[in-house]
Amino acid sequence: MPAPGDGLIGSESVQAGSGKPFSLYVHVPYCSVRCGYCDFNTYAQDDFGDGVNLNTFADEAIAELDFAHSALQNSGAEITPLHSVFFGGGTPTRIPSTDLVRILHHAVSLFGLSSHAEVTTEANPDSVDEEDIQILAEGGFTRISFGMQSAVPRVLKILDRTHTPDNVPKVVRWAQQAGLQTSVDLIYGAPGETLAEWEQSLRAAVSYHPDHISAYSLIVEEGTKMWARIRRGELDMPDDDAMADMYLLADRILGEAGYQWYEVSNFSTDISTRSTHNLAYWHNVNWWGIGPGAHSHWGGTRWWNVKHPLAYSQRIRQQISPAQACEVLTPNQQHFEDVMLRLRIREGMTVRELQGQNQMSEDQLHQKIQWLEKQGLIEAVEPLNSRVVLTLKGRLLGDAVTRELLPE
Ligand SMILES: C[S@@+](CC[C@H](N)C(=O)[O-])C[C@H]1O[C@@H](n2cnc3c(N)ncnc32)[C@H](O)[C@@H]1O
Ligand code: SF4
Repeated sequence: MPAPGDGLIGSESVQAGSGKPFSLYVHVPYCSVRCGYCDFNTYAQDDFGDGVNLNTFADEAIAELDFAHSALQNSGAEITPLHSVFFGGGTPTRIPSTDLVRILHHAVSLFGLSSHAEVTTEANPDSVDEEDIQILAEGGFTRISFGMQSAVPRVLKILDRTHTPDNVPKVVRWAQQAGLQTSVDLIYGAPGETLAEWEQSLRAAVSYHPDHISAYSLIVEEGTKMWARIRRGELDMPDDDAMADMYLLADRILGEAGYQWYEVSNFSTDISTRSTHNLAYWHNVNWWGIGPGAHSHWGGTRWWNVKHPLAYSQRIRQQISPAQACEVLTPNQQHFEDVMLRLRIREGMTVRELQGQNQMSEDQLHQKIQWLEKQGLIEAVEPLNSRVVLTLKGRLLGDAVTRELLPE
C-alpha cells in the first residue's frame, strides 16, 4: 500500500515496537564500478543531474533523519538511544569520510547513542586511505566491514572487483591501528572458482586477523550482468555439491583459526565481536533506513524508500516522505519471518517460539522436530522448551529445515 506522506506509523505497530532496540541504517547507493553479480540498489554514476551528486548525499540524509525523528515523535513511538548504526551500500566510502561523520553526529544529536552501540561502515578495500579511516575512528565509528570477496586475482576479475589482493591487509591493518573492529566479506562459488582458490581466500582472510568474517555463497539474481553471462554460456555456475564443500571448508578453516559461526554466513572471534547490527535484523527489532531504496521496520510495519537517487532527492526537497510503499505484516507473516531469520542464528529458537501463536499443534511440531533430528539437521530438542539449533549439516540445508518447521 502507499506509504503515508507524513511518515506516521500506525498505533498497533507503535505499541508492538515499544521496548525493542532501535537501530539505524544509512544506504549510500554509489559505487565506482557495478560488480556483475551485485543486485543491491547502487549506481556507478557520480552525478544524477538536477544538482544531485556524491556531495549532496549528506544533506539529504540529514534531512531524512530530521523527518524520521519528527515522524517517530508524532506517532508516539518510544525513541530509545541507538543500539547500532550501519552505513551500507553501495560504497559508503565513495562520499567523503567527513560527510559520513556529519551524518552520524546528526543522528546521535537527535536520537542519542547507547553506551555500547556498534557504529559500522562498509568500505571497498580500494575506497579508503589511512586518513579516511582515522577520520572515521575519531568521528565515532567503531567498526569497518571490508568487501574482500577473494584473495585470488582471477576470481576478483570474474567478480569485476576493482581492488587487488594486497589492498586488503593494508586497510585492515590501518583500521586495527585506529582502534576499530574489523570484518571482511568473502564470497564463494564464483563461476570457475576451485576449492583450492577458495581455501587460499579463507587462509588469507584469517591471516589478517579481522574480528569477524562473513562468508556468503554467491547468489546470481535474474537481471544482473553475471546472470546474463551465465545464460549466454560464457560463465559456468558451480553446482550445489561444490557450494556445500566450500561451506564445509569455510567452517573448518575458520573454526581452526578461532572463528565460530553465530549465523549461517557469519563467523566471529567471540561473542563481543558478533555484529550487533546484523543481529538486530535477525531479531527483527526496530530500525529506520535512511537513503535511496532503504528499508525500515517498526513493530510489524515495513516501508521502503524510492530507489533512484534523483527521485529520493526530489521527495526530500519537497519535505515529503521518501517512502514509496509500506505494508503491515499479519501475525502469520511475522511468525514466518521470525522463524526464517532466527533459525539461522547459533542460539536457534525455543520450541515454544517455533510454535508461534499456536499455529501448529504441539504434537505436529514435535513430530517434525524428531524427524529433523533423526536426519541430523537439528539438535537439542529435549526436554520441552529447549532450543532447536541447526547442526553443520542443517546449516547447509537451512531453508529446507525452516520450511519443515513452518505451518503448512
Ligand atoms: C552491499 S555489499 C557492500 C560492500 C562493498 N560495496 C563491497 O562490495 O566491497 C555487502 C556484501 O554483500 C555481498 N554480496 C553482494 N552481492 C552478493 C551476491 N550476489 N551474492 C553473495 N554475496 C553478495 C558481498 O560480500 C559484499 O561485500
Ligand atoms: S562494490 Fe559492493 S555494492 Fe558496489 S556493486 Fe560491487 S558488491 Fe555491489
